Amino acid sequence: MQDTHSYVQEHKDRFISELIELLKIPSVSADTAYKDDVIKTAEAVSKSLKEAGCDTVEICETPGYPIVYGEKIIDKNLPTVLVYGHYDVQPPDPMDLWDSPPFEPVIKNTEIHPEGAIFARGSCDDKGQMYMHVKALEFMTKTNQLPCNVKFMIEGEEEVGSKSLGWFVERNQEKLANDVILISDTGMIAKDVPSITTGLRGLSYVEVEVTGPNRDLHSGLYGGAVANPINILTKMIASLHDENNHITIPGFYDKVEELSKEERAEMAKAPFSLDAYKKSLDINAVYGEEGYTTNERNSIRPTLDVNGIWGGYTGEGAKTVIASKAYAKISMRLVPNQDWEEITELFKKHFENIAPEAVTVKVTPHHGGQGYVTPIDSIGYQAASRAYQDTFGKTPIPQRSGGSIPIVSLFEKELKSKTILMGFGLDSDAIHSPNEHFGVWNYLKGIETIPLFYKYFTELSKA
Ligand code: BES
Ligand code: MN
Ligand code: MN
Repeated sequence: MQDTHSYVQEHKDRFISELIELLKIPSVSADTAYKDDVIKTAEAVSKSLKEAGCDTVEICETPGYPIVYGEKIIDKNLPTVLVYGHYDVQPPDPMDLWDSPPFEPVIKNTEIHPEGAIFARGSCDDKGQMYMHVKALEFMTKTNQLPCNVKFMIEGEEEVGSKSLGWFVERNQEKLANDVILISDTGMIAKDVPSITTGLRGLSYVEVEVTGPNRDLHSGLYGGAVANPINILTKMIASLHDENNHITIPGFYDKVEELSKEERAEMAKAPFSLDAYKKSLDINAVYGEEGYTTNERNSIRPTLDVNGIWGGYTGEGAKTVIASKAYAKISMRLVPNQDWEEITELFKKHFENIAPEAVTVKVTPHHGGQGYVTPIDSIGYQAASRAYQDTFGKTPIPQRSGGSIPIVSLFEKELKSKTILMGFGLDSDAIHSPNEHFGVWNYLKGIETIPLFYKYFTELSKA
């Protein structure tokens, strides 16, 4: 019987060109100008699932963008793997920083990807990683090696908070029943250091508005006598961290899960070069919470960051003005046990509290979600670990990630199953940034590794 490696080698050119076609459709979920393209992408995904061997494929309507659902049930007594991914992408902005247009994929070599990388928005997050699963299914059905049942659920609103997916999951628990959820929407440590993501951070995302005078004012006639909302907003934001970079919101850390010394020591074993890290970002020093390492700061610790800030005059030249309003978008990354709705409420209360009487503030929550951790002694984790062992020749390292996929905790709550995060991207792939790319090697390695997960998961489930 043909093995995954030789099948991938035989069909790799087609696998690459099919992904390139998918990447050409600009499925930006955040911007309604792309609405038709988002829907077109759902149709393309649906077609690819049919061709890869799903028995039924549906484009399920929701209050928002549709969810592509497909399945191949071979035997009700066998385990069922539910694959989740997203076909929407982040906005490509800022456009002028792309070396080639974001929706005209090109393959270029990089230092890290001498075998070539596909440059396009969504190449790594998540079209490329999602499509690895479609091709893995193709391999298993075409070579008669699908060992269990499989369901696919590919959504179009991940980058904007997965609202419709929550709606869909609550209404379709039976349809989505499964033994394990499999997702490739994260990364791994390096091409020669395979890792499995065992944790995701939660998220609370808010927008704040500070209002001073009822209209923009002449900054000479009024300056010094009335509150300048931009001055006030920046001062308020600055006060949200203390001199040790701890967050100052009362109660913020109350439920934070503290890792034991042993757990932290285990984490510190993962290979990491601070010099290479600094060099890759062109920074002279790292910066963050006192008492924690870089890897801890970006995974097991909660954070607060301004994602955007605006107000007043930002056009050419100088305009002397005190703006009436100032705004900021703020995200807080959360860790296990912190509840995102509770944190949003604490933020709101605190932000209103610290506002001077001279301004009014409005806090609008956007979206959020809980963090997630998965044990490494589950059948799912063990199956994934063996799969990597086969294709990378090394045991993968468990690693908690700093990113968020809020829907994962909802899966656990609604579908009562654990998620295995088999990510094949690299931090340097520039997801959400200009020049996002996905290594051809990583893409093919993913297609090669995934079928082995199915094999071992089925074997371990019978044992
Ligand atoms: N795929 C990412 C999340 C991710 C990337 C997790 C790399 C771990 C490693 C996902 O598409 C994403 O961008 N999530 C958002 C949250 C969402 C609610 C917009 C995030 O983490 O900012
Ligand atoms: Mn993603
Ligand atoms: Mn993303």
